[in-house]
Amino acid sequence: MTDRRRIPLILGNWKMNLTPSRSAAYLRALLPLLAPSEDREVAVAPPYTSLPAAAEVLRGHAVRLAAQDVGFEDEGPYTGEVSAAMLQEIGVTYALVGHSERRRHLGETDLMVARKARAALRSDLRPVVCVGEQEAARASGRAASIVRAQLLKAVEDLPRSEARRLVIAYEPIWAIGTDRPAAPADAEEMQGVIRRELDHLFGQDAAPIRVLYGGSVTPGNIDAFMACPGIDGALVGSASLDAAAFARIVRFEPHS
Ligand code: PGA
Repeated sequence: MTDRRRIPLILGNWKMNLTPSRSAAYLRALLPLLAPSEDREVAVAPPYTSLPAAAEVLRGHAVRLAAQDVGFEDEGPYTGEVSAAMLQEIGVTYALVGHSERRRHLGETDLMVARKARAALRSDLRPVVCVGEQEAARASGRAASIVRAQLLKAVEDLPRSEARRLVIAYEPIWAIGTDRPAAPADAEEMQGVIRRELDHLFGQDAAPIRVLYGGSVTPGNIDAFMACPGIDGALVGSASLDAAAFARIVRFEPHS
């Protein structure tokens, strides 16, 4: 295993899949496939309605719970929203914010992403801020500047003291759900862009921030991604819906 300063995080994003009963059945199948391990952290992000059932199955296990989104205010007249405190009380540790599917289908803006990240931190949740460029932006050489701008807008107002609780997920949009993952070298290069920006914003408080890669991660390519020293874990969509595949991803063995 490469010498790492940060414990890698493998996070399964189930998206709008699995009812509460199916979520519980899935987790009961997954848990026996995961060997206890101190050198990696595992989390799953079921839909909101499955979180209580998932929390019940995961009680006493090291696998953590993530929400796929979080409300931008703490409470009040925001029909349909779920606050960070509500999630925190049922045992949720992480909340995805700014996933590209929410930006695209639900009009989520950089401003909203920043508000959600702050709301998560106020209630002791750890935001996983998702950033990533469109295919056209990469083709025209603007990927780094777009990702840098998204990152800045999402986190630049956070107090330095909160920085260590952040997680960043770099997910190129063209790689999500397409079976066309980024080349590990390109992902690693973008992690470097993100890391430099975090260092610039937060100084040494940026050191614990993990930067994940997401986009068509599978059992067949996880080892190559995790061989990149700048990649601190993975955000896994479709492959996380198969317990055996997800367990293999969790058991990554870095090699180049
Ligand atoms: P994918 O999704 O692994 O199916 O590409 C990743 C994500 O959207 O987080």
